[in-house]
Amino acid sequence: MFHLRDDEIAELLDLASVTEAVEGAFAAWGRGDADTTQRVRSSAGGGVASAMAAVVPPFSGGKVYSTASGAFTFVNILFDIEGRLLCTLDGDALTRYRTPAACAVAIRALAAPACTTAALIGAGRQGWYHLEMLASELPALSGVAIHDLRPEAAEAMVERARAAGISATVASSPTDAVRDADVIVTVTQSTAPLFAADAVSDRALICAVGATKYDRCEIGADVIERCASVVCDDVTGSRVECGDLIQAAHAGRFDWSRAIELSAVAAGIVDVPRAGTTPVLFETQGVALQDVAAAALAYQRSRRKTPKASDNNGDGT
Ligand SMILES: NC(=O)c1ccc[n+]([C@@H]2O[C@H](COP(=O)([O-])OP(=O)(O)OC[C@H]3O[C@@H](n4cnc5c(N)ncnc54)[C@H](O)[C@@H]3O)[C@@H](O)[C@H]2O)c1
Repeated sequence: MFHLRDDEIAELLDLASVTEAVEGAFAAWGRGDADTTQRVRSSAGGGVASAMAAVVPPFSGGKVYSTASGAFTFVNILFDIEGRLLCTLDGDALTRYRTPAACAVAIRALAAPACTTAALIGAGRQGWYHLEMLASELPALSGVAIHDLRPEAAEAMVERARAAGISATVASSPTDAVRDADVIVTVTQSTAPLFAADAVSDRALICAVGATKYDRCEIGADVIERCASVVCDDVTGSRVECGDLIQAAHAGRFDWSRAIELSAVAAGIVDVPRAGTTPVLFETQGVALQDVAAAALAYQRSRRKTPKASDNNGDGT
């Protein structure tokens, strides 16, 4: 069995290439040329197991993972379109690239022109990868304000950012972080809204990454009401998983008919005005489509590095 480990995947992938692959996969889904399932979860006896699958021609696959004490153990599977098993892959490095890639796709389509300022709330594992994404997607970026419930985490990330050549400062509160930010990324496990609607600039694109369960909340109903458009990585999945929108809908302050698919935006099927005169919200919980797109890229690159006569790259190469 051919298996790609996290350290190998981290060597093989780069954010720009994964973003291209993920953008292409969302556009294919929007055109009806790719498909992805919702996540299913099972729990008993203290254990939790989850699964999700997607077809992104010429590949298909998905991931199965367990969650214990807040830690995830992922296994991804990749097939070619004829159903031949190509490989299995660890999931940490794939998640590291495919999660910010979804926000990068949203930024390309929905952010105000010439963004110079950004805010990052949540200086954890995913926070760093989203900071790298902001630096690469916003060429005119002059500074990122970083806030975390743990000040030491925000301080450490600012130091790491500066060492990487990214201009960053610590913000003492979420409100201080988002004020005047053109792009806001929230990537926390918060269960209460992080900032109020009047803290957000009209130019802001908010990329909400952390509220991946119905009982989590980063973005309050007042912010959602102010946003001209609400774009989701998967509207059907968001109805089950996106705490921000579920709670706002439950309070009668958000109607699901407002939710727009990122896939339709990426495919050019719907025209969503960029942030600028009013803020725009992008909500992501992550879909298997992203995992399969990133896994396929890692697989193809690994086979190009060490080709074997019996290998099928799934793309005729
Ligand atoms: N959308 C996706 O595809 C996707 C993928 C991976 C992870 N996630 C979600 O992103 C979130 C972060 O994941 P991670 O691996 O970086 O976790 P992490 O624990 O490494 O980091 C989370 C950080 O958020 C901070 N935080 C928590 N509550 C806060 C609050 N109220 N205000 C400010 N900071 C707060 C914590 O102190 C921590 O530093 C989780 O909710 C996770 O489920 C989403």
